[in-house]
Parts: sequence; structure tokens; C-alpha cells
Amino acid sequence: MTRHLTLFCAAVIAVATTTQAQTPRESPLTSAKGAQLADSILRLMTLEEKVGQLNLLPGGGTQTGPRVPEGGEALVRSGGVGSFLNVFGAEYTRELQRIATQESRLKIPLLFGHDIIHGFRTIYPIPLAEAASFDTARVENTARQAAIEATAHGLTWTFAPMVDIARDPRWGRISEGSGEDVYLGSMLAAARVRGFQGGDNAMGLGSPDAMLATVKHFAAYGGAEGGRDYNSVELSERTLWETFLPAYDAAVKAGAATVMASFNDLGGVPAHSSDWLMNEVLRNQWGFKGLVVSDWGGIGELIPHGVAANRADAGVLGIRAGIDIDMSDAIYAENLAAQVKAGRVPVALVDSAVKRVLRVKYALGLFSDPYRFSDATREKRYTLAPEHVTASRIAARESIVLLKNASRTLPLRKTLRTIAVIGPLADDAQSALGNWSAVGQAKEAVTVLAGIRSALGPSTRVIAVRGAPVDTADTSGFAAARTAASQADAVVLVLGERENMSGEASNRASVELPGLQRDLALTVIRAARAANATKPVVVVLMNGRSLAIPELASEAPAIVESWFLGSQHGNAVADVLFGDYNPGGKLPVTFPRATGQIPLYYNHRNTGRPADEKNHYTSKYLDLPWTPLFPFGYGLSYTTFSYSNLRVSAPRINAGDPLTVSVDVRNSGDRAGDEVVQLYLRDDVASVAEPVRNLKGFRRINLKPGETRTVAFRLGADSFALYDRQMRRVIEPGTFTIFVGTSSDADASARVEVSGDTLVLAPPTPRFR
Ligand code: NOJ
Repeated sequence: MTRHLTLFCAAVIAVATTTQAQTPRESPLTSAKGAQLADSILRLMTLEEKVGQLNLLPGGGTQTGPRVPEGGEALVRSGGVGSFLNVFGAEYTRELQRIATQESRLKIPLLFGHDIIHGFRTIYPIPLAEAASFDTARVENTARQAAIEATAHGLTWTFAPMVDIARDPRWGRISEGSGEDVYLGSMLAAARVRGFQGGDNAMGLGSPDAMLATVKHFAAYGGAEGGRDYNSVELSERTLWETFLPAYDAAVKAGAATVMASFNDLGGVPAHSSDWLMNEVLRNQWGFKGLVVSDWGGIGELIPHGVAANRADAGVLGIRAGIDIDMSDAIYAENLAAQVKAGRVPVALVDSAVKRVLRVKYALGLFSDPYRFSDATREKRYTLAPEHVTASRIAARESIVLLKNASRTLPLRKTLRTIAVIGPLADDAQSALGNWSAVGQAKEAVTVLAGIRSALGPSTRVIAVRGAPVDTADTSGFAAARTAASQADAVVLVLGERENMSGEASNRASVELPGLQRDLALTVIRAARAANATKPVVVVLMNGRSLAIPELASEAPAIVESWFLGSQHGNAVADVLFGDYNPGGKLPVTFPRATGQIPLYYNHRNTGRPADEKNHYTSKYLDLPWTPLFPFGYGLSYTTFSYSNLRVSAPRINAGDPLTVSVDVRNSGDRAGDEVVQLYLRDDVASVAEPVRNLKGFRRINLKPGETRTVAFRLGADSFALYDRQMRRVIEPGTFTIFVGTSSDADASARVEVSGDTLVLAPPTPRFR
């Protein structure tokens, strides 16, 4: 038997080696050879070995680096584990692959996963910041570089991108996604998948610098009630399909190899037990061919959710729902074999899950060369590679949003005699990196203070004052801040949140500035103004969500939104402050005036009584305007842009036909700059109440002073589609209003009439259950 097995495995490896090279146009995820290989291995497996492939165990950090947990190597030998997370390093993963492929009975290679969310060692802007760039190519590129760096350390799998649409900034994980909009979110979801996997439709998998992407958290995790992480999600089926599901679908269409289930329940059904989500929607409706992984402990959490009585039951629910891999809580490892033997789980379910795991391993090329990701030369070459650091700075600059610039406060002169840099975050390198910074090191990150120092020559004196802590009530530093503000020629105030105030389990009940930072800011602004009415005072914000900053918006002469920009944070901010780079980012989330306005998003429905100042009985507040402080898509530049000549390719089209919308955009200012041209569409009268407008196109362009460019958007059939009352995807005849401009407030509009009968693009969505 052993000899037979050895010969068989050698044959399998030979097949894998030759066939991967011979079928370049076949997606490695769905290739017939991969399926054949998986089937043949499966036939040799014991039930325990099958369950082992579904077991994903976490490693832990030690002084010598990340290591498998105690007993991990023995488990690899016995086939009791198929993958690890948080275990990496070229040399170490090579050794583990050696054990797996030489010392285990079936010689199946391992997967190594890690959260490469916005970089491995070189850290790029957090995803929310990158979304502000409205630049899909840039976003794809940073994901690509992150994958190059991570794979060089033996990693094969990232738990990214997070594509959860979020309309509630109290939810800390809004920082990990692309914000509130379904179209932007879908475009960036697909871009990130392509970047991690090295191409579209999983075609890049198999190359040693491409890793498995994970679309997460499926589904609607961003809808957590009250913005409390892990909380229940209550959504109408319509909003689920219209707003929350499309970004996952887009990522699946881009070829994402894996999907992660979400912690939340949706209408009472926890995702980890939802056969509807994993099988009906993901696999049947969308044709997903990769594997589904649980979130950390998510199967065990079916017990506190109240749908499983014990771990064994939780495991049964998980595998029945189509969760292939159990992350971290070893429920499958401990229970699944017994449950199969007891007849509670058909072995066919386990087999399907194992096949998916094996096919994914095949897609990575691990059967032909298990060491392809464990290459010490590449590890050295790509860790903090200069081209990555440069790209991080470029991405960081593009992510910055200029929120206010009264009287051209910015850019600042580099010939200042003194500049005061005030605020608790000015020299906070850890916060510059942002949360989920993998193995990014604070000592390698450039703070705003450091960035300003290196941008200025020795003749400018930089006065650094902390002023106040981030979130505690301490005014003892106010006096020094006041003095610095009155003495310096210019003031930069760096305010906001620490990186650990957003991200997982880091929700805030209030999105106002934490601690006494607002008071510090007002003290500083007033002191500066009292000394010199035209003294430039700039607020630089660092934060992982939208903030409510009404007083700053009215009192601060200039506001720069810098989010958390990664390794090059301070250099990118300095580039903007001193005019070496002209900011062009736009908000991917609405900024409210106060927490009480949340949820506040641009593509709301109109209601039967849209807000009207002159009519009391309309949809608004007594104590606050209904409008946002800064709308979605908003952002200024050091130059100005004017829009003209908005036109459509035809005043009337048949349902299903494409339409081209063009507009002339002119740089009407005196310096080159980027503009994000945005197109929104409104279905004027439909069978269901549609949002007041929806983003359907955007393009980031660079224009020289005086230059005019025609920007054309092609709207395909789906741009005009909606879910009708039967939840069919349809295009209904009638008029549509098109808005084009510089933010979601764009008012230049054109109209098109769609004629013909209602066109059904897709049958009703599978009914929620
Ligand atoms: C829990 C988080 O929800 C998920 O996003 C992450 O990928 C896993 N932990 C693994 O770290």
C-alpha cells in the first residue's frame, strides 16, 4: 500500500507539474486537471485526513518569529491540519512544507494565511483611505505589491479584501473597506482581488507571487446594528441585494478564490449556518468555485448565537451550510468524523469541501512545487523594496482629501521661519501605519512631524507640541500649544483618532473628535488668529472613519483628511501641505454634522416628504440640518475645475442599449491637478422607490492649467437596472436623470428616456431563508 501510494503521489505531482504549464487559458481554479487531481487524492484519504484538510490553525509569535502552535508539526505529519494562519517566513514555511510533503502519508502541501489588508511590511493606506483615491489601477497595484511582499515570506493566502459596504461610521471596521457606496466598493473589490491574485479570473494563480484573495465578510457584516461590531444585521431583502451583496459578487466575478463567512446573523440566521448564503447565493447563483472559510471562531459562535447547543452541533451546522474550512476553533477537527460516522453529516459534504481545498492548493501550484513561496532570496529582495515604498507614498498622496482651504491657506510656503506642529497624533508612528498593519514597523513609518521636518530646510524652526492626549481629559498642554500657535508663522494641528480606535471591535458611540481635541483645536486656532488674523492654520485629520467636526469646519482655515496612510504617511502629508503634490482625493463616506444623523448616506430614498426647510412636516430634525457636513464624493484641490457641455449619445434608447455620457472638464485654475469626475444616475419614476441618485461611473484625471478634456462614460444595461417588486433585475421604461460633477451634490444634469417594455435581465433572486 505504501509503495502504491508513493508511486501514486509521484504521478500526481508529475501531472500537476506538466498540466499547469500546458493550459494557460484555463482558470487554475476550475481546471479539469485540478478536479481530477483532487478526486484521485480524495480516493486515498481516510475520513480523519479529510477532516484535517478542513482544519486551519493559528500560529503564534515567538522570539524566533511566528511559529505553529505546540503539537502543530506532529499534526502536519499525521494529516490533521491543512493550513495555518499567522505563520510565515521563507525558511520556516519551507520546513513545514517539507514535513507536509515528505513526512505525511498523503504528502499534501499546506496553505499559509495572514491578514494582508494594506501591506505586509511596506504598509499602504488603509482601504478606506485608498477608496478616497477613486483610482482602481492604484488600488490594484498596492494589492499586487502587498502580495509580492507577502508571498516572498511563504504566505499563500490573504484574508482580504474586506468589501463590506458600511453606512454607519460608528462601526470600527468601516476603516477596512471602501466606504458606503456599492459601485465604488464593487470596483475596488474587484481591483484588490486582481491585485492579490495577480490577474483577473484567478488566471494569475500559480505564479509564485500571487496569493489567494478572500472576499469578506459574507454577508452584510457592515450592516451591524448601532455600529456595534458582531451585532445583528436587519436589512430589507431589497437593500441586501441592491446595496450590500454586489461588492461580494464583483469580487467573485473577478475570480476570488476564497470567501469568508461573517460573524453576524442576517434576519436571525447566522452566516456560519446559512446554507442560503453559501450555497444558494454564492455557489448556485454566482457560480463561486473556490472555498469558503469561517471567520475566527465563527462556527463555535453558533452556540452563543443560540442556534447550536454544543460544539458538535455547531460543526454540523457549519459543514451543512457549506463552510469548508474551520478557522481556529478546531470544531471540525474534533467532531466532524464522529458526526459523519453517526450519520449526521453525509460524507459527500465533507468530500466536496475537501475537494475545494485541494483544488485551491492545486491552483496555487503547490502540488508541483510546495516550496515556490518559500524563497529566502525573494524574501530579502522584496521586503520594504524601494519600489514598494515609493508606491506607498504615491498611493498615500492620492488618498488625501482636502476638505477646506479658505483664502488659499494651503499650500504653505517652505520659507517659513517657524512652524508649530501641534496635536497628539503628530508624532504617532503606530497610528500612521493604521490598523491591520501586518508586520509593518512603527519605526519604519514616517509621522506627520517627521514628514514636515524632512520637507523643510534648516532655516525653518519646527516647534512640536503635543497639546492634549487623544482621548483623555487633560488640558495641561494647552498653554504650551497656545504659545506655540501665537509665536509660529504657521500652525499644523494633527488631530483625530489613534489607529486602534477603528478596526475590529473598535466601535465608537460618537464620531465626534475624541477627548478634548476639539477644545485644543479651538484654543490654538483662536490664539493664532489673535496674533495674526491671516496666519495659516491647517488641521490634518487622522482617522479610520468619517468624523463629525462641525466646529473645525467653520473655524479652521484649512482641513486635510489624511486617514491612516501607512509607511509614508508623513511624507505624503508634507507633499500636500507644501504643495509638492496637489490633493485630489474624494470622500468615500459621508461626513455627518453629528453622530445623531447616522445613518447618513448620499443614495437614500427620497421619501414621500423630502426635507424642505419651509415645510415643518417633512423629513428632517428640529435641532440639526438634514444635510451632511461634507457629502460623499467631496474633495477640493489647489486648482479649480469647471464642467460644461454635458451630453448624451442619444436622448432616447431602448431598454438594454448602452448610453454614452460625455462632459468637458477644464482646469480653470493656475496649477496642474487631479479631478475625480463622477457620474450619478436617478431612475425618475419606477415601480419601487429608487435612491435619489446612484454613482455609476467615475474617472480620476490629471489636467494642466487651462487644459480641457472630454470624459466619456459608457453606461451598460445594468446601470439602468433595479430590483422590481418580484425581485427580478429589470430595466423599466421611463426617464432617467444623469448628474455629472465633482461630488454627489453634482447638479449639472441631462436626461435620457428609456423606451420599450420592461426588460427582464435576471429572474427573481433566491428567496431569503
Ligand atoms: C477575525 C476578523 O473578523 C477577520 O477579518 C480576520 O481575517 C480574522 N480574524 C483572521 O485574523
